[in-house]
Formats: sequence, structure tokens, C-alpha cells
Amino acid sequence: MANPNSTTIKFQSGEQIPVELHKVRIVQKLFLKPIEERMQAIEKAGFNTFLLNTKDIFLDMLTDSGTNAMSDNQVSSMLQADDAYAGSQSFYKMEQALQDVFGKHYVLPVHQGRAAENIISQVFIKKGDVIPMNYHFTTTKEHMELNGGKVLEIYTDEALKIKSDVPFKGNIDIDKLKSVFAEYGKDHVAFVRMEASTNLIGGQPFSMQNLRDVKKIAEENDTMLVLDASLIGENAYFIKKREPEFRDAEIKDILLEMCSYADLVYFSSRKVSSTRGGGIVTNSKDLFLKMRDLLVLFEGFLTYGGMSVREIEAMAVGINETCDDTVISQSPSFIEYAVNSLDAAGVPVITPAGALGCHVDSMGFLPHIPQEAYPAGALAAAMYIISGVRGMERGTISSVRDENCNDILADVELLRLAFPRRVFTLSQTMFVVDRLKWLYKNRELVGGLKWVEEPPLLRFFMGRLTSTTDWPQKLVAKFKEDFGESL
Ligand code: F0G
Repeated sequence: MANPNSTTIKFQSGEQIPVELHKVRIVQKLFLKPIEERMQAIEKAGFNTFLLNTKDIFLDMLTDSGTNAMSDNQVSSMLQADDAYAGSQSFYKMEQALQDVFGKHYVLPVHQGRAAENIISQVFIKKGDVIPMNYHFTTTKEHMELNGGKVLEIYTDEALKIKSDVPFKGNIDIDKLKSVFAEYGKDHVAFVRMEASTNLIGGQPFSMQNLRDVKKIAEENDTMLVLDASLIGENAYFIKKREPEFRDAEIKDILLEMCSYADLVYFSSRKVSSTRGGGIVTNSKDLFLKMRDLLVLFEGFLTYGGMSVREIEAMAVGINETCDDTVISQSPSFIEYAVNSLDAAGVPVITPAGALGCHVDSMGFLPHIPQEAYPAGALAAAMYIISGVRGMERGTISSVRDENCNDILADVELLRLAFPRRVFTLSQTMFVVDRLKWLYKNRELVGGLKWVEEPPLLRFFMGRLTSTTDWPQKLVAKFKEDFGESL
């Protein structure tokens, strides 16, 4: 059913097309460099898209983190910022906005989402604890493990299926949650974590009913429920779109209900409010006091937490804009358009379309590349070479090695092409779809990757790899043959 407030609008042909419900007032010039130069750039970057320089990138679809477009109201609010180490008026505005949107009284600002993870993990996890969750995020897991915790992913059977029409693949399996408490005992469960729009499995949301059920079990076991709200706006949008009970609900009310079940809510405002920074909010004075001192130690004083006052102002405006259907539906509508176009052409992508980006199933795309040769990393490099589009590997490279130094093969090997909020146009989206379809036709030309330099921690950020054969050169030759030019 069409959503009257969504950015997707029916055309005469009957086709549902995402239309930009904003106009562009400030622009940044982009460059589409010739394929030979892109080839050199990826070699220089060790076949790791994190190490590319943006001057060599056409469409930067690495992430939505810190790259969502700001609104005119956000930018103008930054001019009013009140510079002060302590007691800044900007902080009180942001505090009020977070209290209104998340319904939590105590606000701890941090410099970005992982800083919240650091504090929460240090305060609430003790050695030997387990933390059940729908799925981990990279930095979340590292912080939890550094503090002696063990992550237990208790997703439903549907969660990792690439092609599916299940609307809430981010749900926790309630029976598995009950078994965790039965097996480990509530004293060894640090807390239950729910991640909105589960990032690493394709931006898949959970339902409100699932959250209610999770809360009930956590409460019965006197255990905290922690909500990672970095992508909560999109999750709320999917609840409205896909959970019949909420069809006529306001996004604001859905957000408030979601947060009401969590004892702690934390977030990266690089995502949720199109600015920088992050925060932790709670209604419990006791929980607030437990975290307060670490905040001052790691982040800065209580009224800025490592953020600039200008970012704090923009966050106050941005968090309210997340409650606007036309704002929050923009990225999911464009993702849905890309996913449906690719799916119709037989390109393996995660369905149903989720939040954050279009997620390409690299094992389905490149079945001839074994997981040990990193198909998702190879696909990210190949896509950059043939299009100048930078995506992110979300597979085994983003994972770690076990105690015997063997790769822990990821559950899913994904190339994520992020759609930061209100950044890319429909023709740019069509370009991405077109180039990906070409790559799929020529997929047998793509080969694997191997390590040249492999850092032990979060290796995907800084590690360098190389191609296992001269496949990149062959891909370039075929591209030039088919397109008759280098762009
Ligand atoms: N939680 C989730 C669900 C995230 O997606 C991220 C970041 C974080 C926590 C950490 O927040 O970057 O502000 O420290 N995700 C980014 C991404 C990096 O590209 O998906 P941060």
C-alpha cells in the first residue's frame, strides 16, 4: 500500500518511483575519473575501499555515517551555538530534543556511537558475562569482548536468508532468548541488546511486537534491555510500513514506544541525526550515575561529551527531523528502488530491502570465489574499478581470526552500497544499478583477494590486500571493450 508521506510516488505507468521531497541548495562537485586511474587508486589503497581518497571516488556509498545531508535548519542552527566548556545553552537544547524524541530524562553526550559502547561495556559487563542480541555490530563486539563479555547472536531462522519476504528479519528468536537465561543464569547475562535496523545483516528491522516480547523476558529475569538506536528512525519507518498495528501511527509515537521498552538507549548521531557525535539516554538515575564518571574521563564534560557545540545544535534539530516521514523514508525508498531493480535483473541482493544501503550477496554473485579469498572484498574492489562507486565490504574481512589464527568465516558476505539520507539522486541510483548489472554479467572475470598487511584488531579499517591473479586488468580490458571508453 502506498504511504501518503513516503517519498515513493506512483507514475502514470503504474511504477512506484522515489521522488526527492527536498531541493538541492548547496552542492559538491564530483569527479568520475577514467577506469585506468581508478585501477591505480584501488591498487594504492591495498584493495581496501576504506583507504581510497575521496578525490578518486565518484559516488561515495561507503557509509551513511557522518555523510547524511544536513537540512537548512540544521546548518543555520550551528551559527547559534553557545561556546562553553560547561553549561552550554546548546547542550540544554539537545537534551530537551532527546528527552522529547526518546522519552528519557538523563542524557550523556559522547563523541560517537562506539564511545557509548565503550562506556556501557566497561560499566555493565564483567568477565564471563554473555550478551544476547539480534546481531552484533563490529565495534560493539570488540568493546564487549575487550571487557570479557561474549556476544550471543540469537536471530531467527529467516535472518540470514538472502532472498526472503519476511518483513522483520532483525527479530530476536524468543525461544533462544529463554534458553540463554536457562543456560547461563540471569546473573551472567550482562544485558540484552537490540539493534535497530540490524546493520550487518542488511539493515533489517525488528517488529514492535518482538521488542515487547524481548522486554517481557528481560524483565522477568531482572535484566536490562539496551537499545542501539543508531538506525532507529528507519526501523520505526519499517514498523509503520510493515506492522499493521502501526499503519496510521506517527513516527514520533513509534519511536517513543520503542524507547519505552529499553532501560538504556545509545546511538551514533552520525547516523540518526545527520550530524556528528552520539549519546546514551536513560530514565534511571542509578544507571546514569554508574556511567557519568567514565563519561567525564573518556569524552569530556557532561555538557559536551567530545562534541563541538555546533554539532550539538545540529543534533538537536536533526533528531526532531528523524520523526518526519518524508525525511526518514528517503533513504529506504531509494534503497528499495535499487534493490527491486537489481532483484528483477537476477542480481543477488538481500530482500526485502532494508535500511542503510543496498546489500549485494557476494557469495551468490561470485560463487567461484571461496570465502577464504574474500568475495565481498573482491566485489567492493571490482565495483569501484568499473564505476567509481565506493561500497563497503561486510563479510569475512570485517570479521576477525580465531585463537588459532584462522579466519572466522562470516555468516553472510555482503557488499554494502550505502544510501546516505538525501544525498544521491535517482539518476545516480540508476547508474549504480546499471554498473552492477554489467558487473554481474561479467562476474566470472572477478577473482579473489589475499592479505599483504593484516592488523590484528578491526583489520578491515586499515588492512591492505592484493588480487590473487591479474583479474583487475582483465576486468578493465572488458569494460573498455564494452563501453568503448574509460568512464
Ligand atoms: N552501532 C551501529 C548499529 C552502527 O551502525 C554504528 C556505526 C555504531 C554503533 C558505531 O557508531 O561509528 O558513531 O562510532 N556504523 C557505521 C557504519 C560506522 O558504517 O555502518 P560510530
